[in-house]
Amino acid sequence: MKKLRVGVIYGGRSSEHEISLASAASVFLNLDRAKYEPVPIRIEPDGRWTLADRPPTAIVAAEVIQGTRESGRPGRAGRETYLAPRPGEENLVTVDRGAAVSSRPEADDHGSANARVAALGLDVVFPVLHGPYGEDGTVQGLLELADLPYVGAGVLASAVGMDKAVMKLVFTAAGLPIADSLTVLRREWRADPAATAARVLARLPLPVFVKPANLGSSVGISKVKTPGALDAALALAASYDRKIVVEAAVPLAREIECGVIGNDEPEASVPGEIIPSREFYDYEAKYLDDGSRTIIPAPITPAQTAEVQRLAVGAFRALDASGFARVDFLLDGASGALYLNEVNTLPGFTTISMFPKLWEASGLPYPALLDRLIALALERHADKQQTRTTT
Ligand SMILES: Nc1ncnc2c1ncn2[C@@H]1O[C@H](COP(=O)(O)OP(=O)(O)O)[C@@H](O)[C@H]1O
Ligand SMILES: [Mg+2]
Repeated sequence: MKKLRVGVIYGGRSSEHEISLASAASVFLNLDRAKYEPVPIRIEPDGRWTLADRPPTAIVAAEVIQGTRESGRPGRAGRETYLAPRPGEENLVTVDRGAAVSSRPEADDHGSANARVAALGLDVVFPVLHGPYGEDGTVQGLLELADLPYVGAGVLASAVGMDKAVMKLVFTAAGLPIADSLTVLRREWRADPAATAARVLARLPLPVFVKPANLGSSVGISKVKTPGALDAALALAASYDRKIVVEAAVPLAREIECGVIGNDEPEASVPGEIIPSREFYDYEAKYLDDGSRTIIPAPITPAQTAEVQRLAVGAFRALDASGFARVDFLLDGASGALYLNEVNTLPGFTTISMFPKLWEASGLPYPALLDRLIALALERHADKQQTRTTT
């Protein structure tokens, strides 16, 4: 049987670039070479697309995340470009800024960059990108235009899943439980910081969480316990986004996460629990210190497990997601009330990340999970081909 050529797109323009390198390293390691020919496609932090001559390694990715190795992210310590590769590292070939990926070489005469990517002859693409310009529908839109099957959510679900403000509107419309929240525009806060803080405090009891609407990995998020600390939290979130979500803190919040896979008939994994090493599950607790623990399955009652799974599938359907997603909950440690926190349409995908571990515990080991996700991508693409595009 012909091997499937799987384009793995990784890196990306978001603050989660380094996390993507780590996820991609695991994907490359576990794609069964008897079935697949992986093709590494890397997006630099500045947006350039490059073809790497070999995949990233977990060790380099870990060093970049830990800060013991320079990532070359523009604006971080002023370094504009990647370092020359060390032995064993990928050697990057620049394709072009924003070069399109096309599966139809004959239809493509828009210059050598596109032609070179088209010549890759990809059968399916796995965008292993977290955060803006990857998890948010932008790359998915490019892949739709190129008529390539790809793993995971489409344009709409990716975009809605990235925007915490719109995601909450969709959850509310679907009758799914979320913590009380409001949205603040950066413009409003800049124009009158005091009035903005007053509006927030009039609506929500402290403590609150202040978040940039479109980001991930807890970047730009603060827990605010006193009125005096609100303005700095709004300023921080406003530096990352023009839209800010402020939400009531769930008391004694326990972090429960559930994996979902499927297209029109999504299935939920066993739920897991994260015990953060810090006051909440911030960037440090997620990636920089080893103290955070995961418990799989989550030590909750059978009734709570069933409810988490029901709501996880409900959230997946409400977004019209496809392929896979990790649905995150906050469980009120005092009352036992369950709140949906967010849907991640491109969850962390290292072998030790929550999503693959949840599926492993549900009977689907990492390589089989990759098989399933690729099959779902092909299925969804084939299904789409049956849709009329003319009247
Ligand atoms: N309403 C809330 N109540 C309690 N903890 C929260 C709340 N919102 C966020 N948190 C904490 O902040 C973390 C990051 O928030 P989240 O909305 O998941 O952002 P991200 O998309 O960056 O992961 C959560 O995992 C949790 O620890
Ligand atoms: Mg989260």
